[in-house]
Amino acid sequence: MTIAELFESRKDDPRWNTSYPLNPKDWAGYRVDGPLPFDKDQRLSFYIHIPFCKQLCSFCEYTRMLCPDDGLQETYLRVVANDIDCFKKQYKGLTLLGCDIGGGTPTSLTEKNFSLLMEFYKNAVSGLDLSEDFEPSIEGTFNTLSGKKLNDIAKAGFKRLSLGVQSSSHSIMESLRRLVSDEKQMKEWLSKASQAGIKKVNLDFMYGLQGQNEAFIQRDLELIDHLRPQQVTLYELRTNMLSIQTSYTKEELFSQYTQYYEGLISMGYLARFGQNTFSVDAEDLGVSSYLRERMLNGASYKGFGLSAQSMSSAGVSYNLGKLSGDPSRKMNAEGYQEEYTYLLPAKELAAKYMAISAYHGSFSTKKLLEIGIDEKTLNNKLDYCFSQGLLTKGNDDKVYVTRKGFEHYGAVFSLFY
Ligand SMILES: C[S@@+](CC[C@H](N)C(=O)[O-])C[C@H]1O[C@@H](n2cnc3c(N)ncnc32)[C@H](O)[C@@H]1O
Ligand code: SF4
Repeated sequence: MTIAELFESRKDDPRWNTSYPLNPKDWAGYRVDGPLPFDKDQRLSFYIHIPFCKQLCSFCEYTRMLCPDDGLQETYLRVVANDIDCFKKQYKGLTLLGCDIGGGTPTSLTEKNFSLLMEFYKNAVSGLDLSEDFEPSIEGTFNTLSGKKLNDIAKAGFKRLSLGVQSSSHSIMESLRRLVSDEKQMKEWLSKASQAGIKKVNLDFMYGLQGQNEAFIQRDLELIDHLRPQQVTLYELRTNMLSIQTSYTKEELFSQYTQYYEGLISMGYLARFGQNTFSVDAEDLGVSSYLRERMLNGASYKGFGLSAQSMSSAGVSYNLGKLSGDPSRKMNAEGYQEEYTYLLPAKELAAKYMAISAYHGSFSTKKLLEIGIDEKTLNNKLDYCFSQGLLTKGNDDKVYVTRKGFEHYGAVFSLFY
């Protein structure tokens, strides 16, 4: 297939987005037993997965389950803390680029268990070198916050808290089985977070949700204008792991993104067209250092907890609990070791990097060459994209998606897989 034919064949296919691989079976030939090696990855991030939620939103593609009782929460946290200790004993001299606690909903833990989580976070990072721009982050929802949790977050050293809104429309959210908070409560929580010392709050919004239209997005923009978080992240609904299908064409999704983009820019948020993270601060891309290092530099990360993903220069792994139907059946008092480990060749490592770099709407050609992508093939693909106006060259080794390219960003980025 020529490059043009490949692009045409993927252009309108919703499966090409920021997830990779399209199907876990695609990597079956690379699977090995045992843990993923990190011998060559002393600079890396940690990711800690808390799979508990107070609600199970039907659009959610993450490994999550209803929040278990106090005792099971604590057992889970202790097991994960032990996994982190074991990793630190095995690999010495690490420099931590970032550390994110995500989920699920970490703030859905009871206050007592949330304090324990913060203690375990402090232990996890202690004794390690932290990179100069280390910026840890934690996820939550408005309806699971408390004043004590906010104080604990700030005291533990988190400067960034990321909260999901998704849509301001109660009818859309309720149809997707998500509990909603009202605007006044959200405003109060943001001011409490700031008083507690949390400098940056990010709010997640989604587009491509069933029933979303211009009027609803306008309402979301008014909500953002009222709440004025320091950062906003826009997620296009991905349905690869879900039974529901996306109901919009690429053109419609492009126009939803454009409406958000123009609204956010007019409020003073900064981002290049095609980026999904917005920030009020020019020095700040709107993400934690964990995600920044992944999307800009393809950096390594070690994931802890149920189903967490890890990536090193040798490959990718998923801990126990991935793809297992009901994740609560995989809760394991022994630890969350790798259930699937894949030692990957350069082309697959490059694909994984390209998929995540789409969040930033750019990628580094230097990084692709370092991973081991053939220069001549890379240049052919770049020439095609430049000639079609899908990508444009930056001043550095970076290549950026254009407005035209962004409409089919999944097809553009996946050409380099
Ligand atoms: C791990 S979730 C956790 C955040 C928190 N539990 C919440 O719901 O607010 C992080 C974000 O991923 C996004 N997300 C969830 N499911 C998605 C999907 N199927 N496609 C794209 N983004 C999704 C949502 O915007 C969500 O806020
Ligand atoms: S979107 Fe958030 S709250 Fe909803 S199920 Fe997913 S992780 Fe849980």
